[in-house]
Order: sequence, then C-alpha cells, then structure tokens
Amino acid sequence: MSVAENVASAKSARQPLSSRLSANEVKSFVDRESLRRQSNKVLHGHPSPMYWKPLSDSVESLLEKRNGFAQQQDFSVNLYVGTPFCLKTKPARCGFCLFPSEDYRGNAGVEDYIDVLEKEFKFYKPYYAKDTLSSIYFGGGTPNLYHAEHYGRLMSFVDGLYGGVPDDIEITLEGIPQLFNEEKLRAIKNAGFNRISMGVQQLNEKLVKYSGRKQNNEQVFQALEISQKLDLASSIDLIYGWPEQTMDDMLNDLKIAVQAGVHHLTHYELNVAGRSDFASRQKRALLPSIQTNIEMYHRANDYLRSQGFEQVTVYDWKKVKTSPVAERLGRYDYEHNMHHFVEHDEGVVNNTQQICGIGFAAVNFHANGAGVQDENWSYMNHTSLDKYAAKVKEGKFPVDRGFRYEHSDVKLAWLFQSMQTMKINHVDYGNIFHENLLLEYGAVWEELENRQWIRLSETHVEFVGDGQYYIPMIQALVAKNRLAELRAASKDKLDSIAVTIE
Ligand SMILES: C[S@@+](CC[C@H](N)C(=O)[O-])C[C@H]1O[C@@H](n2cnc3c(N)ncnc32)[C@H](O)[C@@H]1O
Ligand code: SF4
Repeated sequence: MSVAENVASAKSARQPLSSRLSANEVKSFVDRESLRRQSNKVLHGHPSPMYWKPLSDSVESLLEKRNGFAQQQDFSVNLYVGTPFCLKTKPARCGFCLFPSEDYRGNAGVEDYIDVLEKEFKFYKPYYAKDTLSSIYFGGGTPNLYHAEHYGRLMSFVDGLYGGVPDDIEITLEGIPQLFNEEKLRAIKNAGFNRISMGVQQLNEKLVKYSGRKQNNEQVFQALEISQKLDLASSIDLIYGWPEQTMDDMLNDLKIAVQAGVHHLTHYELNVAGRSDFASRQKRALLPSIQTNIEMYHRANDYLRSQGFEQVTVYDWKKVKTSPVAERLGRYDYEHNMHHFVEHDEGVVNNTQQICGIGFAAVNFHANGAGVQDENWSYMNHTSLDKYAAKVKEGKFPVDRGFRYEHSDVKLAWLFQSMQTMKINHVDYGNIFHENLLLEYGAVWEELENRQWIRLSETHVEFVGDGQYYIPMIQALVAKNRLAELRAASKDKLDSIAVTIE
C-alpha cells in the first residue's frame, strides 16, 4: 500500500492521524535543515546525553530491578570499557573531537586509573555476573596508550566480572596509528583482543596536520600489516568533509585503505560542533560545502561498492563475505548488535541486547521491556576524570547522569537504530509497539517519498539517494516534538556531548 493509500485508509477508518507533525511542519523542517550542517553525525542514540539528568533513583536500585528482569530473560551484553587519556595535541582534542577525554598524565596517572577501574568492575559483580557477553569494546580516548603489560590486567577485570569470556565474540581495542607498534599489538593479542579499530581520519599527510596529530601513513600501514600477521581483525576510521579536502583527496584515502587490505572501515562525515578548533570561523571557511559533502558521500559509496565492499550503515562498510575468515574480519558486532535491541518472536517481545559501560564516560543502556514496563534507562559515568576517580574511591558508582525511557522514547531509540541500517522494518515495529509506523509519521514519509529519499514496500521503509545522507536530520525530525518536550522540561543549559552509545 502506498503512503497515500495508507493515509486514506486510516482516514476512512476514522483512526486519528498522528497529531505530532503536520505536512507543513515537516516540509519547513526539511527545507530549513537540509541546508545546514548537521551536527549529530557520530551520535545516533535517542535521546542525546545532553537531555539526561542526575538520576532520581540510586544506581543500586536500578541494578536490582534489572536483576529481576534477568530472571525472566537472558541478557546479552555489549561491554564498553572507557579510557580517558589522549596524547596532547595543538589544537586541543585533535581539533575536531567531541568525545570526552583528558590529556595523558604519564604512567602514574594511567596506573592510578587502572586501579580505579578495577574497583568499579568489582561494584558490578552482584549485578552483571550472570549476563552473557556478546561483544567487548575498549574505547576512548586512546586505549592503545596503555603499556604492553597493562592489557592482560585490563582483560582480567572482564574475566573476573563475567567468569570468563566466550571464545567467539568480538573484542575490540581502539587507538591511534602511532601507538600500535608490534610489541603492543602482540600484547593486545595475547590479552585476548581479536580486533583493533584505528582512528586514521585522513591519509593525506598534509591535511591530517590540521588535527595536530603526529601521525604518518607508514605507521598506519605497519599497524595494519602487523595486525594481519597476528590475525587481528582491523578496522579504520576515516573522515570526509575535512577542511580543504577535495573529492580527489577523499577518493585517494579510500583507495589507499582498500589497497592496504582492510576488511572493515567507517567513513564518517566530519561533525563540526561545540568549541572545537574545526568549528572556529577560520576553519569553517576551509570546509567543503554541504553540496560537496553530499557528492562525497555518493562517490565514496560508488567507489567502495566497486571494490567489493558492502554498506552496513550510513557510515560503515565491510568487505563482502568471501570466506568465513573474511566474514569474521569484516564484522563490527559491538555496534551492529544494538540495531535490534528489541526483537519479537511470535508476539513475545525480547530485549536481548544491552550495553554495560564501565570506566570514564562509559554509558549503560538497559532495555527491560519495550516500554510496557517502563523500566528502560541509560546512565553515564562522569566525564571528568577527577570526579570519576573520586566517586569510585569513595566506594560509589561514578554515575553522572541518566535517562529513564518513556514508551515514546523506546520507540524512538528503536527507530534511530533501524535508521542507521538505512531501512526500517515497519512490520516489526507494528509487532513490537502495536502501532502503525506508516500512519504515525504519515507526513514524514509523504515528504520523503516526494523527494525520492525513501522507497516503501510491504515490509520496509528504505532510505535511498540523498535520503541516506540525511538520516541524522531525519532522526532529528521524527524526534522533534519529543525533544522539544525534553528541552522544555530541562532547566539547565543543555551542553553538547558525544559518547559512544549505539
Ligand atoms: C572515540 S573516537 C577516537 C578514537 C581514537 N582516539 C582516534 O583518535 O583515532 C572514534 C572515532 O570517532 C570519529 N570522530 C570523532 N570525532 C568526530 C567528528 N567530530 N566528526 C566525525 N567523526 C568523528 C573518528 O573517526 C574517531 O576515530
Ligand atoms: S580524536 Fe581520538 S585522540 Fe583525538 S581527542 Fe578524540 S579521542 Fe583523543
């Protein structure tokens, strides 16, 4: 049924059409926002932590309730372990980064952090020990800044909490090229990691200098080569829309990456926001136009497809499966598991996938029902290292703020996750949430269909053409009224923050 037919049938059945967004509202939002730089590119959970507040309940009581749910269903956990430190750069924070981090404080600072982290792991023993791990991600910050001898100890915290780690799960460690030397990669492998994720950003050595990072391509190639030798899966992050970057620069970066034999890569559009150096007037003047960025998105996709890569989300790509080994090397379970954090099986709704976060700025996401029981929440650890460490040393959970999901928020969180995959299964949405997605956002789909940004089928809303590029904007559109409510309810000034929450 087309959107128009769906809308007509709803009218004739006297079902109230959603009052959330009118056709005019949708059109003016898209007209206005599609001309602006979008600023929530790397952040695609609902709602952004800028809407979270100090928790009203104690963390212990939330975890007790979660233990109650764990009696009814098995939780699969994607464990995130945070690292605060980064090498100091000029401009600060690599000029573009919006993730929380702190300048490296030497080995004493690192050792102190690891001790504190160990303590926090122990706080969770009564709550997480029975969960099954489905992926592990050590992110940051710069987790390859630890010394080689630290990795085994870090992994022992995970073993201690979960009583071991399943053999076949993905265990990733993130880092920067210049710190992935052979000694460290061996230690990382020996500690049990099976995948590295390397932030490269630019392979044009002149352009990468804008970030102040002291990195060269030789270090990137060496890290990839050693990883391949050690049978560590490796993924690299690249950014397009960088100051002064041309189409040729971008295509050249992708070519180099493909030739270096990566099986997985992320290709993010530069997110320009906050007080970062790249958001300054001087750097903004050097940015490619939005129109150029859209062309870059399409040209990059054409190129990667021509090289045997398959697009998994708006920004991540894996080598098309050619063998079980290639399949393993191309996966990115930590992120992909969360795309279906609520599922249904013959009418029974399951919330199988959760995020458990431990460490600096780590986020927890616990879904204990598709909104019915109203017991879904996220919470986040302190993004100041001193506050984080002080709380843990006092014997308290170092949680800074959190968010309890209402039914409408769970639906939006689910929609955001689906949109990352560039298609929404509206039949699943109906089965899980007992609402008709096509009617609920009728005006949105009509507008997007007119622009040829989506294709509708019996089962899916599929994003096509520029519709894919605009997914972050469309996420903001479907959440528009709910975010306005949350803004109105917040007395504090909302600050922009990026975290690794999927
Ligand atoms: C947590 S970050 C940092 C990982 C590592 N410390 C590094 O710098 O390579 C993970 C990835 O997010 C991406 N990222 C961070 N800030 C971004 C921004 N402002 N715009 C686009 N991508 C960004 C980068 O590609 C980065 O590698
Ligand atoms: S991009 Fe990476 S190294 Fe740079 S500040 Fe952000 S987390 Fe640290």
